[in-house]
Amino acid sequence: MRIEPVSELVGHLVVPGDKSISHRAVLIGAVCEGPVLIEGFGRSADTESTIAAVRALGVVIEEHDVDRLTVHGVGLRGLRAPDGPIDCGNAGTLVRLLAGILAGQEWAEFELRGDESLSSRPMGRIATPLARMGAGIETTDGRLPLGLQGRPLRGITYELPVASAQVKSCVLLAGLYATGETTVVEPVATRDHTERLLELAGARVVRRPTSVTVEAGGALNLERVEIPGDVSSAAPFLVAAAIVPGSSVTVHGVGLNPRRTGLLDVLERMGARIAIYNRRPIGGEPAGDVEVRSSDLVGATIGADEVPSLIDELPILAVAASHARGETIVSGAEELRAKESNRIEAVVEELRRVGGHIRATRDGFRIKGVPARLRGGVIDSRGDHRLAMLGAVVGVASREGVELRGADAADVSFPGFFDVLEQVAPGAVHYPPAA
Ligand code: S3P
Repeated sequence: MRIEPVSELVGHLVVPGDKSISHRAVLIGAVCEGPVLIEGFGRSADTESTIAAVRALGVVIEEHDVDRLTVHGVGLRGLRAPDGPIDCGNAGTLVRLLAGILAGQEWAEFELRGDESLSSRPMGRIATPLARMGAGIETTDGRLPLGLQGRPLRGITYELPVASAQVKSCVLLAGLYATGETTVVEPVATRDHTERLLELAGARVVRRPTSVTVEAGGALNLERVEIPGDVSSAAPFLVAAAIVPGSSVTVHGVGLNPRRTGLLDVLERMGARIAIYNRRPIGGEPAGDVEVRSSDLVGATIGADEVPSLIDELPILAVAASHARGETIVSGAEELRAKESNRIEAVVEELRRVGGHIRATRDGFRIKGVPARLRGGVIDSRGDHRLAMLGAVVGVASREGVELRGADAADVSFPGFFDVLEQVAPGAVHYPPAA
């Protein structure tokens, strides 16, 4: 695919429902009592994997529309072990959260697998706490495939060694099946969508500033969940509008959970012109319409405390930083090496190829920005959806355009991304001639 430079990006758009919340709505819906209507579902390759996994466990899901589903919950202990392995595709959130639920399905056995990228990602981080709770769990040298036997679980207090909402959620979901209380202590606050949905479903959840406790017990009930737009999917458009002179883009109905909006905070510090209108709750989450207009940006410093609130946006932030005057320093982000690709290496290598001045550090990167367009050239997504969208933003903001290899990877979180880009940047997207 070729992405041509544009003079500006202008318009209004919506993005698919939040991916993190969509996974959780289907997984938690599956163990609720009775039907759960999900509206604003973010359909993507990743969340399709969750639908398929839950169906393999014997749960009926009716698909009324692309973004409206009914999950017919079977109750906490009603899942059925499938004959074969469960394929989690590319989805880290699916494999880690599902493992927490399956750990409590007493004496049933499961095998979890994934694609090549997911199979290279660390699973010891969930095996350790689940084994402490009493589950039978075996990884393949700390990775997938993972064998799991549900057993009677006991509550634990677990201090997260890495700031990870997936690990936190895994332990909390297992806690729904454990005797006593299960507490997760987090050194740095991570996204709390699991806690919010469990509370909505009537679970006993106690939240403190740096820890959260769940107790087993009552059945879960959720009649309807509405999912706000995914701020991570809005991010490429917000950054593109911030850096291409003359731009003004508004993304409507975006989730604005404060544990997810680090990108907006950092862009503001960099001098971006951001306005939020129409603040309203959607499905128990803060949300609103976000407008970004172009402006001159300056570099920023981002450290470990802020990283979880923009972990998936750090690649696209590197593009903003490349267009900002002065230096941007990101540290405390070694987790980027354990994502769908090694995102420190990938971002540094790909941005250098198009003229960026960026270098990798052990736990992040340093960028010397220039307030001018990058040259452009070739960007390879390496099969990573966030890199595919990064390549598109570099392309529209560049002097010479970008040949984007592996553009399809965007479908993992945002099918239709290039059509939406074409709406606000007409003439940018050029598909290769059909073979
Ligand atoms: C997610 C948590 C984060 C994030 C991922 C989605 C979630 O991962 O990077 O895209 O839905 O809980 P970690 O928990 O590994 O940090």
